Amino acid sequence: MIKNLRPLRIAGVGYSVPDAIITNDDLTKLYDTSDEWIYTRTGIKERRVVSGNENAVDLGEKAARNAIAKSGIKIEDIDCVIAAASAPPQLYPALSCNIQTRLGIPNYVPAFDMTAACSGLIYALQVARGLIGAGLYKNILLVASDNNSRLVDWEDRGSSILFGDGAGAFVVTEAEDGVDDILSIDVRADGSLGQYIYMNIPGKNCPLVDPCDETDAKIHMSGRDVYKFVVTTLPNYIDKCIEDAGMTAEDIDYLIPHQANQRIIEAMQQRLNYPDEKVISNIKYYGNTSAASIPIALVEGVEQGKVKLGSTAILCGFGAGMTWGAAVVRLRDGIC
Ligand code: ACO
Repeated sequence: MIKNLRPLRIAGVGYSVPDAIITNDDLTKLYDTSDEWIYTRTGIKERRVVSGNENAVDLGEKAARNAIAKSGIKIEDIDCVIAAASAPPQLYPALSCNIQTRLGIPNYVPAFDMTAACSGLIYALQVARGLIGAGLYKNILLVASDNNSRLVDWEDRGSSILFGDGAGAFVVTEAEDGVDDILSIDVRADGSLGQYIYMNIPGKNCPLVDPCDETDAKIHMSGRDVYKFVVTTLPNYIDKCIEDAGMTAEDIDYLIPHQANQRIIEAMQQRLNYPDEKVISNIKYYGNTSAASIPIALVEGVEQGKVKLGSTAILCGFGAGMTWGAAVVRLRDGIC
């Protein structure tokens, strides 16, 4: 950990999911699959999807309002907005700019998006840590929101079973009491594995030059490669993050992982030797909501009494890139 950074406090966490539910049985209307196949391989029973003109900006706004309400920080005191967006409704204006406007954040504070797929929230936390740590900004809103359901290929039963829509948000601020809520954090990428999960932006060259190959705008995924990569990389990596925090796995109260596949979550659980009560999983009801999955699991875990605040947790995520990241954090009372 870099020394002499100003300490960061996680002040508020919120989430939002759309109302429309698509069950595994519903998916049998689209292709040859079954609830049994999907549930045994992924742990997913249903997922939420946007409907009509609802999109990631709407979800992100609600998650942000919930996080801000919990944080006790006034909207007008937010001085930077970062969105972790990989499947937003528009490439630009940035999701963060849309959310800044929706919330009415004054003073033209900076707003920008980061793309690290499902690791986006941990990446955003690392960036916010640097910005607050250096004293550049004081109160940063982090929003992770994606409408994956508009971009998956609903004819591809290998990938569309996995994804759902949702948003999560963190408000982080300089810790006036000097207690840092980030006990360790690290983010990584291996761009050479980009072909494991990708989504192209379709376009055509200027008509005066040779045409480029045409591409679609759908999520392509080699599920087996992603699975193998994650179960071989993440467990060792989490060990390192815990060591960086100067702790042991037993010292930490919860594992709150990215919700991509129940079997991947179980591989991490086994490595940490955690009982079920220490592992927060809600993939059954939401599928993979990208970077939003960690805050959704955290806040819902608190609402359902599975997560007690005044505790510590390992947050870890992975996604297209391939990117991955983990943080050991303090979860103070009242943050959600
Ligand atoms: N229903 C029924 N059969 C299916 C389905 C389905 N929904 N999907 C695939 N199959 C079939 C395949 O056609 C194949 O049949 P075949 O053997 O006759 O060719 C067989 O099942 C096995 O297919 P695999 O793709 O090898 O299945 P696998 O056991 O690997 O499970 C899965 C697929 C669930 C996608 C798994 O690989 C996985 O979860 N991987 C991790 C993916 C992940 O975490 N992605 C998120 C990344 S985060 C981000 O950034 C977006």
